[in-house]
Amino acid sequence: MFRIEGYVIVSADGMIADAQGVMPDSIRNAADQKFFQAGLDRAAVVVHGRNSHEGGPRAPRRKRLILTRRIADLAPDPSHPNALLWNPAGATLERALATLGVADGTIAVIGGTDVFSMFLPRYDAFHLSRAARAKIPGGRPVFAAVGPDATPEDVLASHGLKPGARRDLDAAAGITVVTWQREIPPTAPRPG
Ligand SMILES: NC(=O)c1ccc[n+]([C@@H]2O[C@H](COP(=O)([O-])OP(=O)(O)OC[C@H]3O[C@@H](n4cnc5c(N)ncnc54)[C@H](OP(=O)(O)O)[C@@H]3O)[C@@H](O)[C@H]2O)c1
Repeated sequence: MFRIEGYVIVSADGMIADAQGVMPDSIRNAADQKFFQAGLDRAAVVVHGRNSHEGGPRAPRRKRLILTRRIADLAPDPSHPNALLWNPAGATLERALATLGVADGTIAVIGGTDVFSMFLPRYDAFHLSRAARAKIPGGRPVFAAVGPDATPEDVLASHGLKPGARRDLDAAAGITVVTWQREIPPTAPRPG
């Protein structure tokens, strides 16, 4: 009933923000924003940690789950009427979606590190944009496991996702996207 898709733009070294948790201009790009916002427009709900709101003029219309440990399970968000605060330690994703009134469609996961990591076993697709010319030494990785010995691609592959073709979003700026999809196991042949 639900499809779970992740969206991120990372630096060449797999980072989403600097050490202070700020997303630098070096990984911000208009063509990537267009791709990202169009993806969120197709989604039934956007899911993110307390500091990763996507912004933009269409954001207030979107239903969203905002992860926080400040509440026990689920609570309305006084500052975002279409949003629900969610602590996964106290409520399942399915319960959170039902409370928000979302019965089917795409769940767009947009970060940060802990939220991207939490959904790794469940992604149907992950849209990995990359700013090939940017590096963020000491920054915050897209997934907790990314580091000197593991790229974002290694982590996606180790969770059963396969890469599609690399597409240019802004060739002049070195911005690309690869959509990784979960491989559906072939159905076993019927005996006889
Ligand atoms: N490059 C990109 O595509 C991209 C994508 C996403 C974010 N970013 C950038 O990364 C930075 C934000 O990073 P961040 O590390 O602060 O991430 P974040 O996930 O937005 O916020 C972290 C907060 O979310 C809550 N949270 C996260 N995991 C949780 C869990 N399992 N259970 C309950 N609550 C949970 C906690 O809130 P409480 O403290 O309220 O408990 C935690 O302090 C921003 O600069 C943002 O712009 C960049």
